[in-house]
This record gives sequence, structure tokens and C-alpha cells, in this order.
Amino acid sequence: MQIRRKDFPENFIFGTATSAYQIEGAVNEDGREPSIWDTFSHTPGKTKNSENGDIACDHYHKYKEDIQLMKEIGFDAYRFSISWPRVMKQGKIKNEKGLDFYNRLVDALLENGITPFVTLYHWDLPQSLHEKGGWLNPDMALYFQDYAALMFETLGDRIKFWITLNEPWCSAFLGYFLGIHAPGHNNLEEAFTVAHTLLRAHGYAVKVFRELIKDGKIGLTNVVTKIEPANETDEDFQAAIIVDELINGWFHDPVIFGRYPDTAKGLLKQIGVNINEDEMDIISEPIDFFGVNYYTRQLIAYDPQNQLMYKNVEGPLPKTEMGWEIYPEGLYDVLKKLHQRYSIPLYVTENGMAGPDKLENGMVNDIYRIEYLENHFLSALKAINEGVELKGYFIWSLLDNFEWAEGYSKRFGLIYVDYETQKRYLKRSAIWLKDFLKR
Ligand code: FCB
Repeated sequence: MQIRRKDFPENFIFGTATSAYQIEGAVNEDGREPSIWDTFSHTPGKTKNSENGDIACDHYHKYKEDIQLMKEIGFDAYRFSISWPRVMKQGKIKNEKGLDFYNRLVDALLENGITPFVTLYHWDLPQSLHEKGGWLNPDMALYFQDYAALMFETLGDRIKFWITLNEPWCSAFLGYFLGIHAPGHNNLEEAFTVAHTLLRAHGYAVKVFRELIKDGKIGLTNVVTKIEPANETDEDFQAAIIVDELINGWFHDPVIFGRYPDTAKGLLKQIGVNINEDEMDIISEPIDFFGVNYYTRQLIAYDPQNQLMYKNVEGPLPKTEMGWEIYPEGLYDVLKKLHQRYSIPLYVTENGMAGPDKLENGMVNDIYRIEYLENHFLSALKAINEGVELKGYFIWSLLDNFEWAEGYSKRFGLIYVDYETQKRYLKRSAIWLKDFLKR
């Protein structure tokens, strides 16, 4: 079935998403200080080929060209993130030159009719604050509040859509338990401490937002994964419930209901992990929407050898270059579930795929990406038609970029980046999208 833009509600927003460390480069310019990702990626062996974001897509210098490309494709909106170490020295003193960059970026977006959606924290904590304990230090929530206030004051006259954190599950669990993201720790208890500080930081930012901005919307973006038991056994079902609560529930329930999910809490108690539950009233400051980053599903089996009593099982479906199963039905399922459980407006703030992209005669023929997007759009549409309040959809990503631990080996862009020349090429999917987005 062919999907058309006009199948979506009239004011539905189509956009694209990026994040600061993944595209900006210019890591030493205009007073920017290092973040935990600079430190981590410069530690040999932490990323593929020990690659880093020093130059990335050089978007800091090429933002005008990139905005023209967004306009050419026809996007209504652009989701980007602010680099905290670019706008604040030592994480707390404002850096005018860094702020100027975002002022110029936002002005250029608006001049081109593109609505900015901004994420305050997409994983690049100032290294100076990490040295004060980082997210393990409960005070980090207050540092974040001050940083958020600075950004609301600086850009709040022009930006009306704000996202506090991107995927706190990744910051906490990939960063502090699995050690594959910055700062690379391996401690389960730390991961839960960090998760709690991040959620408090979110709440404090929402609180100050309401004081400063009267005509804007604020929300939180989580990675939402469809969790399924690997086998039809009671043990796998139970393990899947716990994983669902740990990945999905842990970062949604407290924000809406002011409490952590019970089943997972029970398991943590059993294995001796302490959970801090203070300031749940701050964490549950009312928000306006949830952002949903959806990529795949996970198949879960019970595994008593593992600290959290589960393991991931490889699924049978076709996979992207990340090794993630392609599962568009899962998007429908998670949107329905979020709507039913939290009854709050939703945006898909990320969805897309890494493909085996090859540049040939100036073109990447990524028909697999077109198919991926079409099928995920259909799932979103089905959810909308069944009453889910989904208001927009952002494709990850505008450009091929620095894919964290995977370095530059994974290409998610609608636009191919030749990293040698920094030349950009619209992929076949971008051309398809251009036609799709035409009103
Ligand atoms: C998400 C991240 C984003 C990007 C995509 C592929 O988890 O938010 O920065 O890396 O995955």
C-alpha cells in the first residue's frame, strides 16, 4: 500500500533529528570545553577504530547548508540538541560565543520556515561536572536546572518545543552498567543512582520552564523498545515484564505516576540494589508530551546467570546494519501502549535505520530505507487512526554522523556525508521523502 502525506492529520509535523556531539565538530572552538564523550572517545579502544566527534559533520560551520538541505527535502521541523559544554564554562558560567551559535542556528531555521525542537541533554555532560561526580552527584540535577534556565531565557522567545533529556536509559545503563557509552562504568547500583538523578534533573528543568516560559511545551524523550518473551514459558514472560519495566516503565512511570514500577523494584530488592525514591513530586511535575525513539524490539529469556536475571536472544527477522531487527509492528504496539497507559500527546522523536549505504555516481540507492520508513509510517498512521494522540514524526537522522561507540561505521542519514570532503549527497530515501512531503 502506498502511503501519502495527506493520510496524516493536517497539522501533523514531519521532521528530522540530530544531536550536538554527533554532528557539530568544532570541539575546541569559541570556548567549548570537553564533554564526557570527548574524554571517552579519546580513550583508545572505547569506540570503533577509536573514532571521535572532533570534526564529525562539521555542522558548526556548515549549519546554513544543512538547513538548506532540510528545506529542500521539505521538513516542517528539526530536532537538535544543545551542547552544554559549548554554552557554559565549567558547566555553570555562560559562554556567549557558544550561545551565539544556537542563536544563529535558531534564527536561520525560523527564516526558512522550519520549527525548532530542542533537546537539552543528548549525553554530552561537561567533563568539568563529571569531575564533580557527574550524574552520581545528586546536585547535578540543580546544575542541570541552571543550564536549562539559561537556555529557556536565551532561546525561549523563539523555541516553543523543548525536550529535557534524550534516552536517560542509555545514559544510565549503557554509560554506568554496560560500560559501552561514556563514562564507561560497570556498576548496576550506580546505573540506578544515575537514572534517579537524571529524572530529578528532568523534573527541576520542567519546574523552571513553567516559571519562565508561558507559551511553550516541554517533554521527555525515551528509547521505547517492544519487549517480547523469547519463548512461551512463564519464566520468559516474567523476565520480559521486568525488562519492559526496566527499559520502558522506569523512565515513564515516575514522570506520570510519581513512582517506579513494582515488579522490577521487587527484583532489585531481591538482588540487593538500593533504589532512591526521594523527590518523586519533582520528577512528576506535569509535562506536555513524551518523545518516543523507536528502532526495534528485544526478545528476552530468563537467565539466572545474569545479574538482572535475563538475557537477550537473537531474533529471526531481517536486521539493519546495527543488528537490530526490523519490526514496524512494534511501533504501533508501543504507541498504543503509551497512549493507553499515560494518555499524553506523543511525538516519534527518532526512527530510522543504518543501512549498507554505498555512494555510486553521486547517489546512494537506499531502497531498504524507503521501505523501512514507509512501513513505520504505516504503523504510526494505524495508531493515529485508532485514537493515539501522535503529533509528529522525526526521522533519525538528517546526516550520516558519529554513531557513538560505533564511530562512523554506521550510516543513519537521509543525506550521505563524505567525511573526507564534508560533501553532502541526498540519498534516494531523501528524494523519496521530498516527494512524500510535498503538500
Ligand atoms: C538513539 C540515539 C541517537 C542515535 C540513534 C541511532 O539511541 O538517541 O543519538 O545514536 O539511537
